[in-house]
This record gives sequence, C-alpha cells and structure tokens, in this order.
Amino acid sequence: MVKLFSSYQIKNVTLKNRIVMSPMCMYSVAKEDGCITPFHMTHYVSRAVGQAGLIMVEATAVLPEGRISVNDLGIWSDDHIAGLKQLNEQIHEYGAKSGIQLAHAGRKATVPERIYAPSALPFNEKYKKPTEMTRDDIEKTIHAFKNAAERAKQAGFDIIEIHAAHGYLINQFLSPLTNHRSDDYGGNREGRFLFLRRIVEEIKATWDGPLFVRLSANEYDKNGNRFEDILYFAAELKKLGIDLIDCSSGGVVPVSIQAYPGYQVKECEQIRAHINIATGAVGLITSGLQAEEILQNERADLIFVGRALLRNPYWAKTAAEELGCPIEAPKQYIRGWEK
Ligand code: FNR
Repeated sequence: MVKLFSSYQIKNVTLKNRIVMSPMCMYSVAKEDGCITPFHMTHYVSRAVGQAGLIMVEATAVLPEGRISVNDLGIWSDDHIAGLKQLNEQIHEYGAKSGIQLAHAGRKATVPERIYAPSALPFNEKYKKPTEMTRDDIEKTIHAFKNAAERAKQAGFDIIEIHAAHGYLINQFLSPLTNHRSDDYGGNREGRFLFLRRIVEEIKATWDGPLFVRLSANEYDKNGNRFEDILYFAAELKKLGIDLIDCSSGGVVPVSIQAYPGYQVKECEQIRAHINIATGAVGLITSGLQAEEILQNERADLIFVGRALLRNPYWAKTAAEELGCPIEAPKQYIRGWEK
C-alpha cells in the first residue's frame, strides 16, 4: 500500500492523503486590511484541485501589530470571516480539508504599530526595537489567539495550527536567546513555555477540532533551546491535547541554515518516537519516493510540502505517478488525467 495516498484521521477530520500544503505567506493582501483577495482564492483552491489532502493557509495575524508585513492575511476582526468562509467552501468543493496557521510576529513585525516582544531585543539592526511586553500585553495577545480560533471556526476551517516556530512571537517566548524575562513567563523552560501553554488552553476552550503546533526544533545556536528542551515542549503539548507537531527549524536568530533534502526529518522522527505524538515532516521534501520513505519508516505521519507546491500545483499527481499509484482526478479533468 502506498502510504502517501492513504487516508489519515485526526479527531473528526479525515484527510484523503498525507500531503499537506505547507503554510506560506504570500504577502498579497491588497489594502493592508488583512482580507483575502482573488489571488488567495486562485492560489489555495488550485492546490485543492491538484489533490493536496490538506491546505494549510499561510501565517495569519491574530492582531494587526503581529503582521510580518502590512500585506499579511489577518484574522483579528470579524470582517475577515466572510472571505475566509468563501475560501473554505471552495477548498472543500475539491475534496481537500483546510487549516489556518494562527500567527503573531512579535519582534519580527514590520508594521507601523508599536511592536513588542518578551524582551526588548531587536532581531537585528534592520528591525525596530520591540518594547518588553507588559502583563496587559500578554493577556491581550493570548485573548487574540482565542478570538482568532473562534473566527476560524466560524469560517469553517477543519484544522488550526499555532505558529510557534521561525522566531515569531511564541518562539520568542520559548527561546532563551530572546526571552530574558524575570517574571513567570521567563526563566527556565517551564516559564518560557507558559505563554504557549496559556494560548493552547484558551484556544481549546473554544475549539475542539484538530490542533497542530509548528515548532523550530533546532535554533542553530549553542545558547538556544537544546533538543531536550524541544522534547520537553512536545511532551507538554501532548499533555495539553495537541494532535500533531509540525517540525520545522530556525528563524530565532539571524543565522543561515544549510538545508539539504529532508533536513528537518531527524528531529521530526525523534519527537514522534520519544513523545509518541503524531508529527509532520517538512523541508526540502520534493519527490513522492522521498515522502513515501519518511512515512513507511514511521518518521512522520504527514508530509508538508512548500516550494515544490509553488512550482507545481499538481505535485500530488506527479508524486502518484512516481509511486505507480493512480489517484482520482477532479471530475473536470478526468479526460486529461486518465490517459
Ligand atoms: C514559507 N514558510 C512558512 N512557514 C510557516 O510556518 N508559515 C508561513 O507563513 C511561511 N511562509 C513561507 C513563505 C514562502 C514563500 C516560503 C518559501 C516558505 C516555510 C514553509 O512552510 C516550509 O516550512 C519551508 O519552505 C520548507 O519546506 P519546503 O519549501 O522545502 O518544502
């Protein structure tokens, strides 16, 4: 049996295959209002037509000051719900499930608003210096994640992913490189985890569907989180009822990553084995054979595909041909797909 094209159930959601379109910011909001545009409809829906099992919508800001850029998608207002609902209806029309990555950029935000972070440390000299978050800032931001989850539910998403990777706000709390706080949100790893813990608890009060967390499992800095700290975070997330760890890396401090095929799979496999939690593998996974190897060797449960899906919206079809496993065509394309 070809595992890449086997179905996968998480709670009440069944994915038709193990291919996930990895969240990728398109910086394509036209009016700086966070609303989706015709481009987003075409972009995401074409990957659903192309038979990806799960479309994970890009990092979407829970507050305007949490945008990476002013052209990011947003979910900080009820005005965003209608557009996202339309997008979900179209994704579902073609048999894919939909997810949304909830995000806050913290010190990596490039917006006109005041930017803030756990500690007043800029990312580098090109970024604004953030102010250290007050208790009020922390409460407001945790609530914004909860409100965003409520809106995601109203918009009809099947899955929510919390963006706790790539050096954005939640990752800034998790890492000792960026969190120098002396209150209960800082200090040892238990303290640094508290912000994410509270976000998960708040989201779960309003959302009972599948909940994923993307982590940076390697910070590429000897003073950053060690892998045993990542295992601690994953274990706590499992206790909190998280369904899957999406295993990425980097972004906390400005270092360049030496990427090679499957460069993040090792950590993904170890988290899965040590913590006994489902994982998603991502990072230069570009062929069906490579994806199948990862799944059959039980190194991950889902395969997140990023740039290969930007190059080829029909990546699933290409992978299926490579694996000798014919897949169903969207009904409009049967005459083209079934030679
Ligand atoms: C990304 N990536 C990314 N990751 C994330 O968690 N949220 C996001 O919004 C984005 N945005 C984004 C935009 C673009 C244009 C690219 C290329 C990448 C990272 C992405 O999801 C993925 O983890 C990496 O690209 C590695 O996987 P691939 O591309 O090698 O399959």
